[in-house]
Amino acid sequence: MKSRVRSNWSSAVLVCAKCSKKLDGGFGPKGRQSLGKALRKHLHLKKGRKAMAGIVDVKCLGVCPRGAVTVVNGAASREWLLVPAGADLDAVAAELELD
Ligand code: FES
Repeated sequence: MKSRVRSNWSSAVLVCAKCSKKLDGGFGPKGRQSLGKALRKHLHLKKGRKAMAGIVDVKCLGVCPRGAVTVVNGAASREWLLVPAGADLDAVAAELELD
């Protein structure tokens, strides 16, 4: 069995799935998509390892903001982002250095 697999990810972004679920959408053109899904669509990312960057939904990160989603940029993990519902996805992508 291989001990390593290659990916095209330039960075990995962790998005709290529980925050997203609490907001019941909040992002995307109609405000009905979760942040992770909206970002993946907005950036036209492919699936899984073939994507240019990884946006991964993870369990609760322990911050639990009201009306926002906790996001960790794997490349700059010392500060986490709290992204409010309806935030501009271009601005979020720029902040995460995904553009
Ligand atoms: S619910 Fe998202 S950090 Fe706890």
